[in-house]
Amino acid sequence: MIQIPNTFHVHALARRIVEYESVDALVDVLPMLQSEPYMHIGRGSNLLFVGNYEGTLLHSRICDVEVVGEDTDSVCVRVGAGMLWDDFVAYTVDRGWSGAENLSLIPGEVGASAVQNIGAYGAEVCHMIDSVECIDLRTGEPRTFTVRECQYSYRSSVFKHQFWGMYAVVYVVYRLSKHFTPHLGYGNLASRFTTTPPTPTTLRQAIIDIRRAKLPDPEVTGNAGSFFMNPVVTESKFQSLLRQYPSVPYYRVDGGVKIPAGWMIEQCGWKGRSLHRAAVHDVSALVLINLGGATGEDILSLCRAVQADVKRKFDIDIEPEVNIVS
Ligand code: EPU
Repeated sequence: MIQIPNTFHVHALARRIVEYESVDALVDVLPMLQSEPYMHIGRGSNLLFVGNYEGTLLHSRICDVEVVGEDTDSVCVRVGAGMLWDDFVAYTVDRGWSGAENLSLIPGEVGASAVQNIGAYGAEVCHMIDSVECIDLRTGEPRTFTVRECQYSYRSSVFKHQFWGMYAVVYVVYRLSKHFTPHLGYGNLASRFTTTPPTPTTLRQAIIDIRRAKLPDPEVTGNAGSFFMNPVVTESKFQSLLRQYPSVPYYRVDGGVKIPAGWMIEQCGWKGRSLHRAAVHDVSALVLINLGGATGEDILSLCRAVQADVKRKFDIDIEPEVNIVS
């Protein structure tokens, strides 16, 4: 048994971890997996293992980058699923290409970006994805999904639901713009550029600074970023919340009103509080952390306790954004 890499730093073992460096190597290994459980992972930055995994974990080491199309306005780049997401963002910003800079410093890999539809500071990766190249893990057959077929929505895709566990993402094709249009609409991002307009590099640096100030560094403190998704409630539910809590933060979105789960968790008194060896982060209440020596069970218990209190106080269900493997 071998330790599973995970940014929560919880002790969890797998029977085997297979890392592959090419599509052919992945296809070759598939027949020997069909008789036991298997699962594909990335860098373990959005996973919570509750206990050991009695099977094989697959992990991509395909990290090549190639420009596959270009016109006067944009460039298409095909990137191996195993490349670190933030290395890819740095690569685009270094070339002056725009689209990824608001997603700087998000942990994880290129493959997971397409599964999870990562997002931050007003940007979502689905707006820069052109297509997603996959291998069917049962048959070894290739299949390319257009961005439409990926059915992206907030932190969601077909790979997280309908096709969960069925495909390995091997390459993602992103389209970046050659014209820089800064997206400064989120929070107080614009206030950082009142004297000098941003460049892709300075915008990336501003995002990095904000993230470093708000989110715990997984190298130092075990965590997986936002643990919960921000729920979307109906207009009438929102109106009743607003009557009771006039300062409730909110964003209007398709289908309702999004309420920050971090705010609700804080209102429940959980910010900075711990249970066993797990805690709610004291700066961003949406993040659960390992105080050192936490088990997957500890973190799951904290998750359940927080969910129950939010339900009791607000009558709203909050769902994990992190993939829980039990
Ligand atoms: N808030 C509180 N208390 C807290 C945390 C937040 O009251 O402890 C309030 C803030 O004051 C603000 C609102 O909640 O009014 C939103 O907070 P913030 O801008 O920090 O964003 P978030 O909703 O906590 C989301 C993403 C993050 C992303 C940030 C910035 C989700 C699940 N999380 O967090 O993504 O970085 O916005 O765009 O949508 C991740 O997915 O791992 C992640 C970190």
